[in-house]
Amino acid sequence: MSRKFWVGGNWKMNGTKKEIEGIVDFLKKGPLDPNVEVVVGVPAVYLDYSKGVLPPNVAPAAQNAYKVPKGAFTGETSPAMLVDLGIDWVILGHSERRNVFGEPDSLIAEKVAHALETGLNVVACIGEKLEEREAGQTEAVVYQQTQAIADKIKDWSKVVLAYEPVWAIGTGKTASPQQAQEVHAQLRKWLKEKVSEKVSNELRIVYGGSVTAANCKELAKEADIDGFLVGGASLKPEFVDIINAKQ
Ligand code: G3P
Repeated sequence: MSRKFWVGGNWKMNGTKKEIEGIVDFLKKGPLDPNVEVVVGVPAVYLDYSKGVLPPNVAPAAQNAYKVPKGAFTGETSPAMLVDLGIDWVILGHSERRNVFGEPDSLIAEKVAHALETGLNVVACIGEKLEEREAGQTEAVVYQQTQAIADKIKDWSKVVLAYEPVWAIGTGKTASPQQAQEVHAQLRKWLKEKVSEKVSNELRIVYGGSVTAANCKELAKEADIDGFLVGGASLKPEFVDIINAKQ
């Protein structure tokens, strides 16, 4: 089963228009592997600007969106607004949304369902904390997080699942290829049992957590790693090497 390699950059709460110009410059220079789908998670205030300057082979994504089309939700952005701007992607359930802003599985699942209903492509993030891994709870945690989403959606064709162990995010402690592959394979097996063989075969499961130009090639060799969601390194020219990890 060939799944198109997918690489996302998550800029998080970083960037100015000048810095975005610098990122756009190295993305335009590339060259980017034409067989890789590339998406960058842009701070909401810069989405319209970024859409106008990013090269056509790099799609902008929002880093969050709410679960309803409009209303009295000060500070929130709706999927309908993203579609109105011509934005096609949104990252949901990132570990910072879960652990800094307290978003529970149930809210994230509702957000995923509404974003898909609105026509967006969704990067749905899951991942265990260090203490959960050390307690042997990794599988239970990622299954529970994925089950919450599976309870709310039927069509997975516009979903990319990002496995991002919390202990690897921003720490420089990347999961080994074996560690990441093990969880990805378990997730694929879980999807086959709980959702369908088709979804299990076709869903891109990407890894995130301290991915760099130095470690991406080894990770990309793993059968069930279909790409990456990259934080810090996506702000630097080495992001091009990560996009080209399969070359
Ligand atoms: O969403 C990707 C991010 O959480 C990973 O961050 O800096 O460890 O690549 P980083």
